[in-house]
Amino acid sequence: MALYSEKVMDHFTNPRNVGKIDDADGVGEVGNAKCGDIMKIYLKIDENQIITDVKFNTFGCASAIASSSMATCLIKGKPVSEAIELSNKAVIEALDGLPPVKIHCSVLAEEAIKAAVKDYYDRNGISYDPAMFEEKDIHE
Ligand code: FES
Repeated sequence: MALYSEKVMDHFTNPRNVGKIDDADGVGEVGNAKCGDIMKIYLKIDENQIITDVKFNTFGCASAIASSSMATCLIKGKPVSEAIELSNKAVIEALDGLPPVKIHCSVLAEEAIKAAVKDYYDRNGISYDPAMFEEKDIHE
């Protein structure tokens, strides 16, 4: 079996939603200290708390780029409350799997989205349960 699924290869070689939103309503940046990869997510959110646009910049491995691309596709047009529920497991499933040593790359996507939503909440004085944004323990 190939190391990477066709979907991973597709989202790596042709990533969706790459870039930056200058007037973003929420920005999240996360990194993994072990591999040094960095992911930044920009959200544009309307008055109904719907994510109308999302862009990402990832300095990282193929799995990190594919995960960010897939994650942006999964949350675009969705309410913020749904985006915050997006798990790295859902990203992996949507990509038809990732090798076990690459699981942390998908966690980066989940955390970047959460960080961007947290930034949006903070900027707008929206209260939330801090437990929603606690970092995950990753076991590989
Ligand atoms: Fe670090 Fe993929 S190796 S995000």
